[in-house]
Amino acid sequence: MRKPLLIGNWKMNGSLQANEALVMRLLPRLRAFRDSLELGVCPPLPYLFQVRDLLGSTGVALGAQNASAFVSGAHTGEVSVAMLQELGCRYVLVGHSERRTLYGETNQDVAAKFRAAMSVGLTPVLCVGESLEEREADQTSNVVAKQIQAVINEVGLSSLTKGVVAYEPVWAIGTGRTATPEQVSIVHQDIRSFVGCDASEASQDISEDLRIIYGGSVKPKNAIDLFSLSDVDGGLIGGASLHSKGFGAIAGAL
Ligand code: G3P
Repeated sequence: MRKPLLIGNWKMNGSLQANEALVMRLLPRLRAFRDSLELGVCPPLPYLFQVRDLLGSTGVALGAQNASAFVSGAHTGEVSVAMLQELGCRYVLVGHSERRTLYGETNQDVAAKFRAAMSVGLTPVLCVGESLEEREADQTSNVVAKQIQAVINEVGLSSLTKGVVAYEPVWAIGTGRTATPEQVSIVHQDIRSFVGCDASEASQDISEDLRIIYGGSVKPKNAIDLFSLSDVDGGLIGGASLHSKGFGAIAGAL
């Protein structure tokens, strides 16, 4: 049984004052779901200590939006997975489309980050998804398969379930243009079939155990339709996670 997972990606937003107000309003709205859902929030790095302390023992976990693939050393400006683990993070997003498009992260870079996160016991959330051009060229399955295959090549198929896959069509992120339930269902089924097609390992079990969550303009008004899909195991929420009422309503839809 795959436990539903809902993560809020705050992106580069917030302030000490705004974070406290948001979390204090959010926690009462999430309390009812702490046993039925896995819940997490990913603030910007400078706020991880503050938000960790605000979350306390509420059951809402802390996550980071990125991490270095390197263990330590001469990587100015970077943050290691060990630092995130020491700080109390449970999740780390790897390969978010904004990191891929704006900061040039390749499938190999992302796979190395996945491995690094696993190595210290963090749960990597592998973000995959196609651009509008790739979708219109009917390349969605190929693009997503390559993104996942790079991780399988790096860590092996059986390690994939130490993480989570987040399908985030690039054209749906921050645009208000959410993928339709049919589009989401097709890609999530494709991902599960792709993972399950490997004859060399217990791939069927692995594909059944793998959590695949959806991100891309999830709002309270569309969450129920998206989360009712059998191959959608939760959501990765951007804009709506900055509003306690919206994120709470989305949690209620899971
Ligand atoms: O990581 C989640 C994010 O990319 C989705 O953003 O604003 O479309 O929910 P948004």
